[in-house]
Amino acid sequence: MRKPFIAGNWKMNKTAEEAAGLAGKIKENVGNFEEVDILICPPYTSLLAAGQAVKDSLIELGAQNMHWENSGAFTGEVSPQMVKESGCKFVIAGHSERRKYFSETNQEVNKKIKAAISAGLLPIVCIGETLEQREQKKEREVVEKQLKEGFDSLPEEDLGKITVAYEPVWAIGTGKTASGEQAEEMHSFIREWFKNAYSSQTAEKLRLLYGGSVKPGNIKELISKENIDGALVGGASLKADDFTEIVKNSA
Ligand code: PGA
Repeated sequence: MRKPFIAGNWKMNKTAEEAAGLAGKIKENVGNFEEVDILICPPYTSLLAAGQAVKDSLIELGAQNMHWENSGAFTGEVSPQMVKESGCKFVIAGHSERRKYFSETNQEVNKKIKAAISAGLLPIVCIGETLEQREQKKEREVVEKQLKEGFDSLPEEDLGKITVAYEPVWAIGTGKTASGEQAEEMHSFIREWFKNAYSSQTAEKLRLLYGGSVKPGNIKELISKENIDGALVGGASLKADDFTEIVKNSA
């Protein structure tokens, strides 16, 4: 039995002060909610403030990205250790906005996954096809390539530290959610890929989140599917009440 997992990706929103306010409200609402694992991912500069605000609760903290090197001449980048030191347990890798606007490749995602694990962080690895790729019926091919290259030479024992988020790019921030069936179809394909690449046992334990316009109104249908174990929530994670409802509706 996989425990439901709801993660909020705040993207480039919320100053430290605003983040403390939002995190505080979420803590008030679901800080002791045991049925669902809850994560918030504020921007780097708001991590400390948000972390402080959810202290002594069950809510975990994560970063939205990081570099794979531990230190060096990489202007503007943040290392795994810096992320860890900021109080993070999780880190997102390969979000489609990173892939699209910052040309992040599967090979870089692979390095980030490995660096995160070495630093003691738990990666949430995002994959998913664009609208064009889906229209060309290439969604499986694209996702398979992201998995194959993203997880290249990753040992089986590390899989237990990983969460995978399937986020069809055409559903992110557009209000267009994949239907429960569409999402489940891809999730079962992804789980099957892990079964073949690793083992049934490992694949069965892996949590697969759906992401893309998840709202209080559609989470129940999504999470009712066999292979959907939670959600990576963008827009709706910026409103304490919506995020709370998504968490409660996932239990
Ligand atoms: P959205 O974003 O919920 O606003 O569509 C999801 C994501 O990008 O993780």
